[in-house]
Amino acid sequence: MSDESSNQLPPVTDAAVETFGLTRHYGSLTALNSLDLTVNKGDLFGFIGSNGAGKTTTLRILSTFLSPSTGTALVMGHNVVKEADQVRRILGYMPDFFGVYKDMEVTEYLDFFAACYRIGAAKREQTINDVLELVGLSEKKGALIGALSRGMQQRIGLARVLVHDPQILLLDEPASGLDPRARIEMMAILQELQRLGKTIIISSHILSELETLCNRVAIIEKGGLIYSGPVQGVQSQFSKKQAYRMGVAEHIDRALELLLEHTEVAEAELEESGDRIRVELVDTEANASVLAKIIVNGGLQLIALEPVEMNLEDVFLQVTSGETQ
Ligand SMILES: Nc1ncnc2c1ncn2[C@@H]1O[C@H](COP(=O)(O)OP(=O)(O)O)[C@@H](O)[C@H]1O
Ligand SMILES: [Mg+2]
Repeated sequence: MSDESSNQLPPVTDAAVETFGLTRHYGSLTALNSLDLTVNKGDLFGFIGSNGAGKTTTLRILSTFLSPSTGTALVMGHNVVKEADQVRRILGYMPDFFGVYKDMEVTEYLDFFAACYRIGAAKREQTINDVLELVGLSEKKGALIGALSRGMQQRIGLARVLVHDPQILLLDEPASGLDPRARIEMMAILQELQRLGKTIIISSHILSELETLCNRVAIIEKGGLIYSGPVQGVQSQFSKKQAYRMGVAEHIDRALELLLEHTEVAEAELEESGDRIRVELVDTEANASVLAKIIVNGGLQLIALEPVEMNLEDVFLQVTSGETQ
C-alpha cells in the first residue's frame, strides 16, 4: 500500500450496524459470545434466536442502554459506547416490554416523547400526525391508550420510536403476543417504513414470522452467530436432511415399517391425512431412488414420491435444537 492510499478516508460502507467480537457477560454467564454482525443500510433484517439466545442483550447494547463487556458496535459508523449521543439520535429502539401509560391519551403520550427529543412545540403536532398516519392510527388521537387493543398499543409503541425520525429502528419482538391479524398489520407497517428508507432490525424467536418479511436474517444461539445472510440461504445452508413425501397403492403401514427398518432413513411417519408418509434421509447426498428401492423391494407399489420443501421453521428447529440456558 502506498503512502497516498493510507491517507485516504475510510471506505464508504453500506453498513448501518456492525459489531465486532461483541461480548456481554452477566456474572459468570456469557450472554453474548463474540458476535460479528453486519446489517446493511435499507435492510429489513430479521434477528432470530430462541428465548435466551441473546437477542435483547444485543439490541440493548446497540441502543446504548447496556455496555458490552468486550468488543465494539457501530451504528452508522458511530461507536455505541464512545458516541452514544449520536447513536441515540439516529436510532429508535422499541423494547420487548414497555410501559404503555394506560391513562394517557395517544396524543399526550406521543407529545411527551417528542418533547423528550426536543422537538419544538410548533413542530410537534405535525410530527404526531405524521407518525400516527404511518402506523394507521390517525383516528385514535384522542383515545386513552389503555382502551386500545394490544395490537394498537404496540403500534403506538412504534409511533413513539418514530417521532424523532430515526434512520434505524431496533424492534425487540414487536409481534409477540399479537393475534395473526394485528401481526400482519404490524408487518405491513414495517414494509412501508423500509420503503421510506429506514433500516429495520426486528427480533423474533419465530422464524416463520420473518421468513417473508425480511431480506436478510441472522440466527443466533447461546450468544453466538449461527447464520447471517439472505433468507433464501438459510435453507440451503442448514437443510441437512432432505425430506420426501411418498405414497403406496395399499398397505401403507407395511411401507412405514419397511422404511423404518432401513439405516438410510432418519425418520418416517404417517402424515395426518393417513395416505402419505413423510420420510427424512440421513445422508444429504442420498436421493429418492433409495426410497423407491425400499418400497419396490418390499413388494409394494409406489404411487407418489416427491421432495418436501422445508420451510424456515423446520430448518430453524434443526439448527438450534432449542438449547438455551
Ligand atoms: N440482567 C440480566 N442479568 C442476568 N442474566 C441476564 C440478564 N439479562 C439477560 N440475561 C441472560 O442472558 C441470556 C440472554 O438473554 P437475552 O438477551 O434476554 O435473550 P433473548 O432476548 O434472545 O431471549 C439469557 O440466558 C438470560 O437469562
Ligand atoms: Mg428478548
